[in-house]
Amino acid sequence: MQETPFVVGKPAEGEYFVNRERELERLLLLTRGVEKAASSNSVLIGLRRTGKTSILHNLARRLRRNSRVIPITINCYGLASKSRFARLVVDTAISEYVEKTGDKAYMKRLVKVLGEKAKSAVDKVSEVSFWEFSIKLRDLRTDEDILIEEALRYVESLAKEKGVYFAVILDEFQDIIEWGRQTLKRLRTIIQDQRRVCYVLSGSATTIMHNLVYEERSPFYRQLVEIPVGKLEKDVVKKFLKSRFDFVRIKIADSEIDKIATYCEGYPDYVQRLGLELYLSVGSGGSITAAQIEKAYEGVVQSLDGEFENYFSTFSPTEREILVAIAREKSKASEIAREARKHLQNISKELRILMNYGVIERPMTGQYRMADPVLSDWLRSRFQGNTNS
Ligand SMILES: Nc1ncnc2c1ncn2[C@@H]1O[C@H](COP(=O)(O)OP(=O)(O)O)[C@@H](O)[C@H]1O
Ligand SMILES: [Mg+2]
Repeated sequence: MQETPFVVGKPAEGEYFVNRERELERLLLLTRGVEKAASSNSVLIGLRRTGKTSILHNLARRLRRNSRVIPITINCYGLASKSRFARLVVDTAISEYVEKTGDKAYMKRLVKVLGEKAKSAVDKVSEVSFWEFSIKLRDLRTDEDILIEEALRYVESLAKEKGVYFAVILDEFQDIIEWGRQTLKRLRTIIQDQRRVCYVLSGSATTIMHNLVYEERSPFYRQLVEIPVGKLEKDVVKKFLKSRFDFVRIKIADSEIDKIATYCEGYPDYVQRLGLELYLSVGSGGSITAAQIEKAYEGVVQSLDGEFENYFSTFSPTEREILVAIAREKSKASEIAREARKHLQNISKELRILMNYGVIERPMTGQYRMADPVLSDWLRSRFQGNTNS
């Protein structure tokens, strides 16, 4: 089968993964510290689509290959409940542990433990911990925060018993922040005491994530080392595009490479999407013209229609009005308010929320713009009106 030069819709790895060595190296050092009882917990903060999940994916791969630290990756996005989270942690810990060590006998033991009626029938530390977790999980009266505690305690007990280490990787952590201060405080308390487990959090609601680390009132104040994830530099994007096109013998002039990179504004996600679209339209050995780039870009925006529509519908009506106004190049708060037909004071709260979630940016005081250039183009074409007030 012919290999494609770009990947869309899943974490990038191998030759599809570009740059980010610094971020990965730092994460590896921080997490591998746990092997010497000197780990720090860390947090990746960056806008949507900048490549956080891909970095975490590659971190987990490297840990699996080169260390005694076993990764437990949990995508916290839209988790229905705390108990779901707790179960995921336990299940992933077990499967990653068995995968890493080949200790299938342990799995069999746990199945037996599940059938035991009395705690006294179980003796190994992690098995007791697993037994307690399972009992509490089945008891509908159990406080869900307790389940989270038990799950994380189980991970530590497994690590101790087996002489291994774990890195609990919590992607889309902002959704856990929404569970509130109480849950965060408990999490912090457990995390603090663990010796064989370290944590890597990641989130895209930039201000909310920053507050988690830097606000004095936050339970995680000064508990996390931040690793910022920014957009890719233009030169990195251009080199990457060039090498991927070379790979399938596609001919393209430097000026056109530049054009593609400009459309993508350093977002690896858009680099992959636009690259793939172009590859699909010209094929191996073909050549790319400026007109094809424009057409492919239109195609990319269209292909994201459902996703953007969904995402856009998660905002309140006022927030949506504001987003459309900003996409239509209204940058001052007063202009945005006028376009949204609101009083200035009635949009300030929404502006702040949109900033907190990293949907809009303030490149200069008093100036707003959309963080995501493609979402901005989509909004403009979706809501092109003929009233140019
Ligand atoms: N370092 C990278 N090199 C190449 N492509 C990447 C890289 N990081 C991300 N991508 C591409 O961008 C897409 C979105 O990245 P992802 O890691 O899911 O971003 P985030 O988690 O920040 O929203 C991925 O599916 C992949 O195609
Ligand atoms: Mg992600």
